[in-house]
Amino acid sequence: MPIKKISRRQAIATASVGALGTMANFSFTNIHLKNTEKLAFLGGEKVRAAAWPQWPFWNQNAEAEIVEMLRSGRWWRGNGGHVAEFEKQYAELMGTKRCLATASGTTALLVALHVLGVDAGDEVLVSPFTFIATYNVIFMNKALPVFVDTDPETFLINPAKMEERITERTSAILPVHIYGLPVDMDEVNAVAKKHNLNVVEDACQAWLGEYKGKKLGTLGDLGCFSFQNSKNLPAGEGGAVVGNNDEMMDKCHAFHNCGRPFGSVQRTSDYPVRGSNRRMQQIQALILLSQMERIQKDADTRLENAKYLDKKLSEIAGIVPYQLVTQNARSAYHLYPFRFISEKFGDVPREKFIEALRAEGIPCSAGYGPQNKDGLIEEALNSKGYRRLFSENRLKQWREENILPGNDKLCREAVIFAQSMLLGSQSDMDDIVDAIAKIYENRESLR
Ligand SMILES: Cc1ncc(COP(=O)(O)O)c(C=O)c1O
Repeated sequence: MPIKKISRRQAIATASVGALGTMANFSFTNIHLKNTEKLAFLGGEKVRAAAWPQWPFWNQNAEAEIVEMLRSGRWWRGNGGHVAEFEKQYAELMGTKRCLATASGTTALLVALHVLGVDAGDEVLVSPFTFIATYNVIFMNKALPVFVDTDPETFLINPAKMEERITERTSAILPVHIYGLPVDMDEVNAVAKKHNLNVVEDACQAWLGEYKGKKLGTLGDLGCFSFQNSKNLPAGEGGAVVGNNDEMMDKCHAFHNCGRPFGSVQRTSDYPVRGSNRRMQQIQALILLSQMERIQKDADTRLENAKYLDKKLSEIAGIVPYQLVTQNARSAYHLYPFRFISEKFGDVPREKFIEALRAEGIPCSAGYGPQNKDGLIEEALNSKGYRRLFSENRLKQWREENILPGNDKLCREAVIFAQSMLLGSQSDMDDIVDAIAKIYENRESLR
């Protein structure tokens, strides 16, 4: 058997506890490292060789009904009831009066922004720490996304920075409950009310998350969800808009269905509205109905494991779990995020930390890049349409103000785990903690 080489710190720790006959605990009180040998990244043994839970899970209960529907040829929502049934059940789950199912989360956002009157030449306040779709839909409506800085502690839009970005063109706020973490909606709604703005929640990663007793996605004027394959409620593709205002939801329905009034298969001349086709298919609805059987249980497991990780990881210098905006809230965990502070890890760069953690058998990645500097923005601002809609001065000012130090810091520091990892056991979570603690203990060897 090869002789194990141990670091000076390990030698001290082993010597100090060795007399008690316990396992060396190194720098930590509550973390009991199993393996501190050479990092796997440098050729050592990995902390974890086992696979992680795969996603999505297929529910066999769905098979008979899906086959029947496929054989019947009733594939679109116009000649079958599965989409309407999903809408009913999803509205119940969210505690809203209404739900409209859509083809995707992107189409849900497009419907919501259109119905709330976001129009050419308007401005929309939006989170920069998000998926590209959140600001793409603003561009699709020929409006200007105005990025508000992120609070790196919460990973979310910083409500204290919203008012300074409002102009006479601002018509809506689009906060994002990114990774399923709840935005401080009281703060967002207070600013919206004061300035007479609409609020569309991007809850595309936030199924069953809560803020002050209400589900995320139900706190603004309209809330939008995604059911894309990686999502906690998956159907390959799919989306939904939820809301409590019947008139608004009727308009959403009409817009998503070529302008046909809610409850009708024909366009009628007494309901003259524009529209497009953003409809969900029957097969998506059937998959969603079967996936909903496990959604609450999965959300509870993720929450429990995330709290366990928060507690354990906070013990490691340089690993900073995110902060909830209020204790009276619940995160949905589409991803589990934390910040990696390189200076506390002997200046190991984040990218090297990520590679080292992957080598230990823990899949992980960096969070979003600085989306407010995405090249597609300049492409849009320089387009014929935008130069017609916005003055040169306004676009110059937009560029000058598009400096977001909080967001830049978060983009440099964020590290994330996929939600499916949080469906593992407590001992799986211990593998994550062990691997990070092992890297911390061996950080000098990564320099
Ligand atoms: C925050 C956010 N907004 C919007 C979307 C768009 O949803 P979809 O991919 O279903 O169109 C996504 C999907 O990844 C998302 O994560």
